Amino acid sequence: MEGTPLTDLHTLQPDRTVAVRELFGIDSSMQVQAFSQRDEHVPEVDEAYRFNRDVTLAILAGFTRNRRVMVQGLHGTGKSTHVEQVAARLNWPCVRINLDGHISRLDLVGRDAVVLREGQQVTEFQEGIVPWALQRPVALIFDEYDAGRPDVMFVIQRVLERDGRFTLLDQNRVITPHPSFRLFATANTVGLGNLNGLYHGAQRLNHAQIDRWNIVATLNYLSADEEAAIVAARVPSLAGEAHRATLQAMVAVAGLTRRGFAAGDLSTLMSPRTVITWAENLEIFGDPALAFRLSFVNKCDEAERGVVAEYFQRCFDRELDVAA
Ligand SMILES: Nc1ncnc2c1ncn2[C@@H]1O[C@H](COP(=O)(O)OP(=O)(O)OP(=O)(O)O)[C@@H](O)[C@H]1O
Ligand SMILES: [Mg+2]
Repeated sequence: MEGTPLTDLHTLQPDRTVAVRELFGIDSSMQVQAFSQRDEHVPEVDEAYRFNRDVTLAILAGFTRNRRVMVQGLHGTGKSTHVEQVAARLNWPCVRINLDGHISRLDLVGRDAVVLREGQQVTEFQEGIVPWALQRPVALIFDEYDAGRPDVMFVIQRVLERDGRFTLLDQNRVITPHPSFRLFATANTVGLGNLNGLYHGAQRLNHAQIDRWNIVATLNYLSADEEAAIVAARVPSLAGEAHRATLQAMVAVAGLTRRGFAAGDLSTLMSPRTVITWAENLEIFGDPALAFRLSFVNKCDEAERGVVAEYFQRCFDRELDVAA
């Protein structure tokens, strides 16, 4: 962060109390703890972020009362950014790890590495991200929790145990968490297909794991008005009265794809992230139809483009040439 001196992270602690109503503009008399100093690990504030009341309160309970909070929901609904944006406003240092794919147990726990000490090569243990974070006032966010590999989930399970103490077996060392260490996770969990319970085989989390999370908040799609407000906040040039009808039509198309998906007519759906991308592309191309084709239609199976064109026609009252 420009101008801010690097802080000694270990020594920081929440040193002030703030009113949730003021900080997040949501209706609640809750008071929460915050830091006055901004460490370099505190995420940037996104002024355009709009907080969902219930999810915000759940995340705040996580920070203030040290609850383990998991945020579940369909893709692109704002789960990952929600935790970060709460942290940004509390000045709470934060580290996000994406569990899909390449993260291994050693990345989390640590490994022996060869280093140079006074001209000598020596083997030294280098802490992984979990012991590093545990000893600091840091919120550790496990993103895509339901995509974690079994060896990785096993490590996380140890951190989730009641007192949260963590043993570095090879090191013969037990780490006691910093009093301001926090743990969050985000997951799609219900899986894309589970909008109406159609696809029961979608990824499920092991119950012994789920059990260890104290609070599970759900962030699914928002009301059409709320979604339009988010898009307008993200793409301010579309915020005016002149564009209200366009934005509403865009959100309505997205709503139809979600319903079409649930009914089995479509195999993809538009997430709020897709709607934001469409709005950004509309700003570039000036034509909702062209921007729509480039942002979504071309990602759809060819056999389904006719259905999508019909949704567009219904909401915009003009044809969409999908062959173009
Ligand atoms: N409430 C909101 N206010 C402003 N922007 C939002 C909001 N919700 C989502 N967005 C924007 O939508 C995009 C997707 O958000 P994010 O990546 O957090 O979603 P996600 O739920 O974690 O998705 P995934 O399940 O794919 O990981 C981001 O660009 C984010 O800034
Ligand atoms: Mg995410």
